Amino acid sequence: MEFKHKSVLLDETIEGLSIRPDGIYVDGTLGGAGHASEVCQRLSAKGRFIGIDQDQDAIIAASERLAAYEDRVTIIRSNYCYMVNELKNLGIQKVDGIVLDLGVSSYQLDNEERGFTYRVDAPLDMRMDQRQSRTAADIVNGYDEKELYRIIRDYGEDKFAKNIAKHIVAARAKAPIQTTGELTEIIRQSIPMKIQATGGHPAKRTFQAIRIELNRELDVLRESLDGMIDLLDDGGRICIITFHSLEDRIVKTIFRKNENPCTCPPDFPVCVCGKESKGKVITRKPILPSKVEMEENPRSKSAKLRIFERRYKK
Ligand SMILES: C[S@@+](CC[C@H](N)C(=O)[O-])C[C@H]1O[C@@H](n2cnc3c(N)ncnc32)[C@H](O)[C@@H]1O
Repeated sequence: MEFKHKSVLLDETIEGLSIRPDGIYVDGTLGGAGHASEVCQRLSAKGRFIGIDQDQDAIIAASERLAAYEDRVTIIRSNYCYMVNELKNLGIQKVDGIVLDLGVSSYQLDNEERGFTYRVDAPLDMRMDQRQSRTAADIVNGYDEKELYRIIRDYGEDKFAKNIAKHIVAARAKAPIQTTGELTEIIRQSIPMKIQATGGHPAKRTFQAIRIELNRELDVLRESLDGMIDLLDDGGRICIITFHSLEDRIVKTIFRKNENPCTCPPDFPVCVCGKESKGKVITRKPILPSKVEMEENPRSKSAKLRIFERRYKK
């Protein structure tokens, strides 16, 4: 299947990076290299680009797309949570810019074999990294009712989480749930018809929840962000595109904490905690896609771009 993905907030991200032609740039979510190829185009022969993705299909597609820049490009199959170490292995201590375009690509969603979507019947897989042994089926058939409820409530923000978890457990007591179609049908039976007629697809939130849990999407983001900010050289920027409020909240909070890490009580006349700012939040409010982009690419509708700039104390 051809790797098709329309990059979201492309111009805004490239502008936000403020690219220096001889700088070092990293994309931790390389995908089809849409953002990456725009970065590479702006680099001189002295510049360097490192692209990371955990998905083998993305690595193959991106390698082909970036072949023309091979003198300045390194592509690594890894999780971006290992970015600091992967760069250290290349002898790189500091970089001038980082891009994260979170979540799944359209290719992953549309590829029927990958089991990310409720739109087609496929094995319950949802792994971004195909080397991982655990799949969505292990979560659906292995988690107890309380754990299923927790993830559907917290990561899917679904009002019917309790009922969905109950129906999953009842259904799998008869036979293991093996396909996206079976799971979708169980979710349909857990949500009142009246709600199904008005809201989006009834399975959307539960599928999102299972995907986030399986790929540890929020934990990885939360655990990696400080390290990435520390990787930035003076004036270097990190641009992050999120697709739902859970991710966006993590980015917003960690950016703010890095801008103002002081933990002194507000009534203290001077700071005594000694924690110093690491830079500036460039986007007080997130940058959103234009109306035109949302019309041309409906998947961009929920996207938000936030940018942080590293500033060293002079
Ligand atoms: C939205 S797509 C990126 C698309 C890309 N910016 C483009 O324009 O073609 C997200 C990609 O990030 C990858 N990804 C998500 N989380 C990751 C992680 N923690 N580590 C490495 N890759 C990850 C996914 O496999 C997917 O290929």
